[in-house]
Amino acid sequence: MGARKTVIEGYKNHVAELQRRWERALRAEGYDAVLIHAGSKLASFLDDYEYPFRCNPHLLWWAPLTSQHDSALLIRPGKRPKLFYYQPDDYWYLPPADPASWWADEFEVLPVRDADAWKQAGINHRTACIGDAASLAEAVDAAQLNPQRLLNRIHLERTRKTPYEIACMAEAARLGAIAHTAAEQAFREGSSEYDIHQRYCMAIELVDAELPYGNIVALNDHGAVLHYQAHEQETPAESRSFLIDAGATVHGYACDITRTYSARDGEFADLITAMDTMQRKLCTAVVEGLDYRDLHLRAHADIATILKDFDIIRTSPEDAVASGLSAVFYPHGLGHFLGLQTHDVAGLIADADGTPIPRPDGHPFLRLTRTLEEGNVLTIEPGLYFIEPLLRQWRETGDVAAINWEKVDSLAPYGGIRIEDNMLVTGGEPRNLTREAFASL
Ligand code: GLY
Repeated sequence: MGARKTVIEGYKNHVAELQRRWERALRAEGYDAVLIHAGSKLASFLDDYEYPFRCNPHLLWWAPLTSQHDSALLIRPGKRPKLFYYQPDDYWYLPPADPASWWADEFEVLPVRDADAWKQAGINHRTACIGDAASLAEAVDAAQLNPQRLLNRIHLERTRKTPYEIACMAEAARLGAIAHTAAEQAFREGSSEYDIHQRYCMAIELVDAELPYGNIVALNDHGAVLHYQAHEQETPAESRSFLIDAGATVHGYACDITRTYSARDGEFADLITAMDTMQRKLCTAVVEGLDYRDLHLRAHADIATILKDFDIIRTSPEDAVASGLSAVFYPHGLGHFLGLQTHDVAGLIADADGTPIPRPDGHPFLRLTRTLEEGNVLTIEPGLYFIEPLLRQWRETGDVAAINWEKVDSLAPYGGIRIEDNMLVTGGEPRNLTREAFASL
């Protein structure tokens, strides 16, 4: 699919916009410059094999340097950003390719053979340094390293995506939709989780390290494990249901898509349809000015209604939300910001001081509490699961009669349902990047 090389429109304007945003933040926090370090490779304990490299997202924001460890970027107001592009003479590992002009033309690029070359960048006490401490700590004062107020300011800036970023995410969604379609096909052919995962990756020519997070490929009751990672190689005797939560990246930008399928018609398939209808309605509510916490609570009320309609619970939806029963079936948040990180930054803070915007009581896993603004990209991912430990706890400490246990027992072998789309907040109607992508195939 060529995801690694795709040229995306609007990059030049994106860099100009980042220059403005960083200049504003540096001025506000009293810095003359910022150095952003990519990070270094990290070897596992007592070994010389390294963990897959993940670039500092602040550097990725500027340039698609997904694998360029030890590169660093110096930003100064009024000056062209200066990139120390680490390109060692290496014969153990393939060094990074020469910079491609579509992005490199926006920088003063200095190819360097020495990983420490950035230390000659003229850093002084008015230069902030952003990156992991292991790479930077020896060379800079603690006070300059990742100043929290500057980071908060920049994290808030990252929540408003530029047209280039939106185009990257739309392209990631297109790849995701292609791969999800291949995975559904593999499920319908009766493949194992491992084989489905391989089909997913092959469909878009990405390897595991290029995925934004570990694919969740869950057959049957594995769908009740929220971040299931096992990739079971054995094909189950019967594949009843399939939950897949899997993404793709383009220049570091992620999509994060979940779909759930039933092998056959029946109650579980009807439950998926009800969840899908409900999820689509939630998606249309993603507009500027919406307090995301309200939408999360609405999702609880909607899921409690579905639980009641399917005779899974025997209490009113209102009581189910108030008593915490809805959270037995839906224990996670409605969604999160999405971008260079799957759980993107600044979902829970109000300002440069990092003032927290509290989660609603009883909802400890919600990752987004902000009021939505144009340019935000976020997920909408309600779920409904039959999770044994949570059901057991309710049986031990809650109102046992509020649950129809026979119904739960009949549905538990299907695991659960999650349906997740990636939404862009615009000045008007929201854009559903995920459904657009599936529709375009
Ligand atoms: N979809 C994976 C996650 O949100 O953690």
